[in-house]
Amino acid sequence: MSYEFSITRNPNPKPKPDPNTLVFGQVFTDHMFVMDYDEGKGWHDGRIVPYGDIQISPASSVLHYAQMMFEGMKAYRTEDGHVQLFRPEMNARRLNRTNERMCMPQMDEDLFVAAVKAVVKQDADWVPNAPFTSLYVRPFIIADDPALGVKSAKHFRFMVILCPSGPYYAANRGKLSTTRIFVEDEFIRAAHGGTGYAKVGGNYAGSLRASQKAHEVDCNDVLWLDAIEHKYVEEVGSSNAFFVMDDEVITAPLAGTILPGITRDSVLTLLRDWGIRASERKISIDDVVAAAKSGKLKEAFASGTAAVISPMGVLRYLGKEYTISNREVGTLSQKLYDTITGIQTGKIADPHGWIQRVV
Ligand code: COI
Repeated sequence: MSYEFSITRNPNPKPKPDPNTLVFGQVFTDHMFVMDYDEGKGWHDGRIVPYGDIQISPASSVLHYAQMMFEGMKAYRTEDGHVQLFRPEMNARRLNRTNERMCMPQMDEDLFVAAVKAVVKQDADWVPNAPFTSLYVRPFIIADDPALGVKSAKHFRFMVILCPSGPYYAANRGKLSTTRIFVEDEFIRAAHGGTGYAKVGGNYAGSLRASQKAHEVDCNDVLWLDAIEHKYVEEVGSSNAFFVMDDEVITAPLAGTILPGITRDSVLTLLRDWGIRASERKISIDDVVAAAKSGKLKEAFASGTAAVISPMGVLRYLGKEYTISNREVGTLSQKLYDTITGIQTGKIADPHGWIQRVV
């Protein structure tokens, strides 16, 4: 199915930032995509408009009860100048799973992908080509009924904004390096039956206090433990977590409390392609710490759209620090990073059909 979106060009395009100094998520392009949903009408009036502030009622339900969701994806520039997306249909599917949990309307996968492609195409000259850069794409939906009753809204707005971005962790500027990760033993991120698997702002608002604690001890991000026993490893603040132990690579199972990462799924697929045992199973923080002490923990890394593959060099748990892989980037982490970014930027073959070209 093909979709038509109106385009209002920005009369005041901005100068492009220096790709070598880009950080994550602070500079926005000239345009954005907007589309409305009304009961009985469905999604309608998809349009590309100049990037700018939006007007919203102060009574809008998203501002009070956080009925919203977001997605995260990236557009990449290839060496021969094309722009492409990585598995955008997976973001569309996850969006609909989140929306089902949040009482928000479903969206045709094709419509989602067409909207993202249209706005990325409009601002294609904003896709940077320096190493460790890409155009971060942030689709999101807000409920904007002006009413204070706690109930699902009837009117929603879908938007896509774009930002040329550098590495998520400043440590990865110019080269892949390791992060310091704080294991949170007090607060929890998600419990069974909650919204842990959904990509909603509330999950992140609730994580900020733990991030603050992590930064106080010079850590880059938080590793969450399960809500019941504070024992099993779940995910890192902005990504999924993997542990390489002897000949097995372990990540937490998708049991409702962790985000079903698209990079996570890609990592599992690549590992299995390479004949490496990749297990989705519970693993306790005590086992991870014991393995770090004994040397059995060969590598650990986080995987995510923003984080890509971010190797962990230190785990800090209950005030003690455990070094992983001598704080160096492990061979498997590097290989996964090179393969995933190689596929994304067209440098290496895409055997699974993960790439969709935009221009
Ligand atoms: C992403 O990787 O796209 C995310 O959504 C993480 C984000 C919260 C920075």
